[in-house]
Amino acid sequence: MTLTYAEHTPTPKQFADILNRSGLGARRPVDDPGRLARMLAGAKLTIIATDDASGEIVGIARSITDFSYACYLSDLAVDVAYQRNGIGKRLIELTRERAGPQCALILIANPDAVEFYKRLGMPNCDRAFVYPRLA
Ligand SMILES: CC(C)(COP(=O)(O)OP(=O)(O)OC[C@H]1O[C@@H](n2cnc3c(N)ncnc32)[C@H](O)[C@@H]1OP(=O)(O)O)[C@@H](O)C(=O)NCCC(=O)NCCS
Repeated sequence: MTLTYAEHTPTPKQFADILNRSGLGARRPVDDPGRLARMLAGAKLTIIATDDASGEIVGIARSITDFSYACYLSDLAVDVAYQRNGIGKRLIELTRERAGPQCALILIANPDAVEFYKRLGMPNCDRAFVYPRLA
């Protein structure tokens, strides 16, 4: 399997597809293309993994960042058929590299992904606070 990693903004349809193929689609507004388009337009850093054989996007990391202090990793998704091959880990490494050493990487883990972040050795923070979405 040969993969290409690149900073690239997918179309809303491609975004919905990879969210659905990862399982994260159940927790994202995949049926609202306008909202997906705004999410993509507002993200400063989106990195995708593409399978060279099929040309399909098989992983994505979408972050909101100033490249100077904070980087919020909003969506990390890997196609279920490609999971456990190091793609999620690599997408985080590339996001951190691109955001730069002055940025903290911040995220809220999907309950199913908590063990993944622990496995990476990512420090967790008990001082984080969140106002949930109202819509
Ligand atoms: C979470 C997710 C992104 C991980 O991507 P992945 O490409 O399968 O993960 P990797 O292969 O890079 O895994 C890195 C390490 O974590 C481990 N790991 C991966 N998923 C794990 C899980 N659910 N539980 C425990 N360990 C896990 C891997 O075995 C690997 O361990 P190793 O370094 O000892 O080999 C992927 O499972 C996914 O897209 N899940 C659905 C969407 C989701 O929950 N996204 C996170 C939103 S916060």
